[in-house]
Amino acid sequence: MIQLSQRLQALPGYPLAEIPTIKRRLLEAGVDVIDLGAGDNDTPPPSIAVTTMAEALRDPALSKYGFQQGLPAFRQAAVRWVERRFGMRFDPVTETLPLIGSKEGLSHLPFAVCNQGDVTIVPEPGYQAYLGGSILAGTEPYITPLRPENGFLVDLEQLPAEVLRRAKLVFLNYPNNPTAAVVTPEYLERTVEICRRHHILLAYDNAYCDHTFDGYRAPSISEIPGAREVALEFFSLSKSFSMTGWRIGFVVGRPELIGALTRVKTYVDTGPFLAVQKAGAAVLDHAEELVAPIRAELERRRDAGVSALRDAGFTIEPPKAAMYLWVALPAGLPSGTFAKRALEETGAVVLPGSAFGPAGEGFFRIALTVGAERLRIAVERLGRTLDAVRRGELATTA
Ligand SMILES: Cc1ncc(COP(=O)(O)O)c(C=O)c1O
Repeated sequence: MIQLSQRLQALPGYPLAEIPTIKRRLLEAGVDVIDLGAGDNDTPPPSIAVTTMAEALRDPALSKYGFQQGLPAFRQAAVRWVERRFGMRFDPVTETLPLIGSKEGLSHLPFAVCNQGDVTIVPEPGYQAYLGGSILAGTEPYITPLRPENGFLVDLEQLPAEVLRRAKLVFLNYPNNPTAAVVTPEYLERTVEICRRHHILLAYDNAYCDHTFDGYRAPSISEIPGAREVALEFFSLSKSFSMTGWRIGFVVGRPELIGALTRVKTYVDTGPFLAVQKAGAAVLDHAEELVAPIRAELERRRDAGVSALRDAGFTIEPPKAAMYLWVALPAGLPSGTFAKRALEETGAVVLPGSAFGPAGEGFFRIALTVGAERLRIAVERLGRTLDAVRRGELATTA
């Protein structure tokens, strides 16, 4: 009998792991399933990505191992984009690193900077790769809950002194998945100051920096004075360019930190496919024109989703960024119960807040991954499930 590792067993179970099975059963039964679960946009990748990739596939040199250096043109396009977007300069050779999606870099980071038993500060609800990477690297994750009354912000100042003393790494993600919360530069200044004081590496996950509405501009951590001392910033081409399956992203930061992550990755992967890096360089160089329609479409969906949710009896403020609506449930109603009932009885897939950790309980997440019309239909169905709760047909714990 092979014993599995304690680290593997320490990974939390996924609360609604049966969603895909239920979904398949419903589809087979001819139900019109509307999937607002995964953050995977229905818009196609940019045609420049497709044509560049098709050409790249005919170049045998791009079928070779990329190793960590990868395609110099991708590194150059990445730092050019950061400079255009945020006015910050990074060296393409020593201060950036291509990633097989930002998830890969974020989850490998604890291996590069943490010793066993070091504390990593992990926001909850949050992207599960922070927790998974921490556990697999043998660190001690300290879960810090994101609360609505606090604008879903991580307030490092409020953490116990012992946690700050032992912490090596904090993960921050704004615009946030799943809460859609955003930050101001002043908040980031305070956070950077605390990280500097306590020698904590700040892993800033900026996967949704392009999905901003109502004139909000998502800051980069590297714009914050002193941040380069303590921060690495992760970017993804997945969401900005509807290229989730292509697996391409990058990280920027100080050479020693980039070097440390590079060394870890040297032992576990051989870099993103070079042809994908070529396509990635092409989209980054055309980012402004490519992102504008995606952002406009998401904004239309956000508006449609918010107004349909309000019509259906939910309470929600329009988020300023990201591709999600984070919706409060009636007190005491377990989010898993709501999501399961909504799926089984109406064919609408949403993620229960508990899928993002226990602190996500009391909410569910809608991903803006279908057009406004379909979104309205899905939300009407969710409203029917809410009505069932109100009629007392769905048990609550309250
Ligand atoms: C907050 C956050 N960070 C990172 C990622 C991963 O993106 P990538 O596709 O680049 O690995 C996601 C994907 O959902 C995300 O929500």
